[in-house]
Amino acid sequence: MKYKLLLTSSLVAIVAMGLLVGNINAREEERVELNKVDGIPENPTVNSEWARYYPRQYSSWKKTKESDNIEDLVEKKPQLAVIWAGYRFAIDYNAPRGHYYAVQDNINSLRTGGPVDDKTGPMPTACWTCKSPDVVRLIEEDGELEFFTGKWARYGSEVVNAIGCMDCHDPKTAELAVGRPHLNKGLKAAGLPTFEESTHQEKRSLVCAQCHSEYYFKKTPYVNKEGKEATAAVVTFPWSNGLSAEDMEKYYDSIEFSDWTHKLSKTPMLKAQHPGYEISSTGIHAQKGVSCADCHMPYTQEGSVKYSDHQVRNPLETMDRSCMTCHRESEEKLKSIVARKFERKEFLMEIAMDNLAKAHLETARAIELGATDEELKEIRTLIRHGQWRWDYSIASHGSFFHAPEETLRLLASANEKAQQARIKLVKVLAKYGNAQYIAPDFDTKQKAQALAGVNMQAEIDAKMKFKKSLEQEWHKVAKSKQLLDEENRKDVDTKSSYFGN
Ligand code: HEC
Ligand code: HEC
Ligand code: HEC
Ligand code: HEC
Repeated sequence: MKYKLLLTSSLVAIVAMGLLVGNINAREEERVELNKVDGIPENPTVNSEWARYYPRQYSSWKKTKESDNIEDLVEKKPQLAVIWAGYRFAIDYNAPRGHYYAVQDNINSLRTGGPVDDKTGPMPTACWTCKSPDVVRLIEEDGELEFFTGKWARYGSEVVNAIGCMDCHDPKTAELAVGRPHLNKGLKAAGLPTFEESTHQEKRSLVCAQCHSEYYFKKTPYVNKEGKEATAAVVTFPWSNGLSAEDMEKYYDSIEFSDWTHKLSKTPMLKAQHPGYEISSTGIHAQKGVSCADCHMPYTQEGSVKYSDHQVRNPLETMDRSCMTCHRESEEKLKSIVARKFERKEFLMEIAMDNLAKAHLETARAIELGATDEELKEIRTLIRHGQWRWDYSIASHGSFFHAPEETLRLLASANEKAQQARIKLVKVLAKYGNAQYIAPDFDTKQKAQALAGVNMQAEIDAKMKFKKSLEQEWHKVAKSKQLLDEENRKDVDTKSSYFGN
């Protein structure tokens, strides 16, 4: 009797195993079938050249154009201008939109200024890094150090195609690939497997991590091709202590790095970029092995053909394919859970921004009254760390959903640091006879930018002049070199935060 039972249960187990293996094999076959190379374009940086081989991926990729709304975040959250005073983000900062606009938005941002030739303007070449497959080509052609040398304007006629096929695929095999060396360097520094060593499922997130990650520009001296000494500003992931906000803070503190000195409080500041990969890796979905592509590029069935939807966008627009493959609640229910997460983040974020902005203004008042650097030292460290935690937690916009606990934990920590700074500031202000000081209003973009010393008209004038002259030159040169995908550039320049909206 016992044996019979055992036998039956082992048989059941063996059959089940067989089915499972069969299932895995079928899935692997499907994957291989899906990834079959149909052809490789001659000019792979030009996205439209891939269309004839992969029409479904191409036409869904092209639909990233539909997400075209410009959301001026300095207008929406004026505290930002105070918090970023002295840094170009205080001038212009919009919410992200479709990948299709990446190059044009970088050109139109007031942050990149109005260069008049290839040697002027406020930004280094590194600002192109996450905008275009042309960057992969240039790093291959010129070498990484050469690419990261000089001003942003230097590559204006070369970086002309928005985020596309060659950003995530090897142009020779069409397999997933990362053409930017900084990702593997970061992974190695963190003691993690490189892209090539990672599982297929991890690769479906790591292609995004090339760009949706925290980085800084590491000053790197080298000798260039002409034998001259040069300095590159190389995009580098600060991952060697780990991927958390505290790990990176320690990294930056240990090399005494700062992105800028705050105009009001004179604090050496850190600007978080968008540590989306890092923060989401702490969330339940990443922990359960769900990849970025599972939600943002869901499989789509078209007749008998299955393919990945390349319209990377807000997954709440594709819940049937992005969420309902795993979840059993109704879409409405799930949406309301997500909406509540957003409200919780907004609540703590507003308090943190208010405290940080006031801490900067109160420090500025203390300086005015004669407070010394020694008296302000601890206060500035609190502001630096508080603002870093705030920025790390919210700079990648989906974090409230990707990693709600970590986002709220960091916002709480940011608040605590800013509050501590303000308590110490009351003492310093009292010492100089101004304990009653109340920071001025910063509740509109105009008021906040005035406090930050931003001259918007001058910025807009310089940009418009550039758009009429140098930008036109860039187009001509790119066209003559056959780099430009005119089909996909012709109507991307219709709006920004300061025109057309
Ligand atoms: C942001 C990254 C990204 C970009 C840009 C991108 N792809 Fe993909 N692509 C992926 C991912 C992720 C997959 C899923 C691969 C897998 O799981 O094997 C994929 C899959 C594919 C596949 C395999 C079949 C399928 O649909 O799953 C093809 C073919 C493909 N992409 C072509 C293209 C083409 C053509 C372009 C440009 C128009 C493009 N991709 C742009 C990330 C990208
Ligand atoms: C080559 C760099 C790069 C890669 C690779 C990349 N992104 Fe992006 N992504 C960007 C940039 C830059 C923007 C903002 C574009 C803009 O606002 O003009 C953006 C915007 C987005 C948005 C906002 C879209 C919208 O409509 O609001 C989402 C979502 C997104 N990316 C997800 C992903 C995912 C998921 C992957 C991987 C499958 C990925 N990205 C790969 C650079 C990249
Ligand atoms: C479980 C599903 C899921 C996974 C996995 C996921 N995301 Fe998201 N992501 C979302 C949802 C839902 C939102 C939209 C939240 C909202 O309403 O703003 C979002 C928002 C975003 C945004 C902000 C878009 C915007 O316009 O504000 C970016 C960028 C982004 N995700 C990138 C990524 C990257 C990169 C990864 C992988 C490291 C990833 N996501 C993994 C579901 C997911
Ligand atoms: C591949 C499977 C998978 C996909 C796709 C997926 N989820 Fe999940 N989700 C999970 C798992 C697993 C958990 C963890 C809870 C559990 O184990 O039941 C989870 C948890 C959640 C939670 C609760 C956890 C928290 O952070 O509070 C929410 C909300 C959620 N998912 C929303 C979504 C939404 C919205 C989408 C689509 C944009 C989505 N999920 C896509 C598997 C998935």
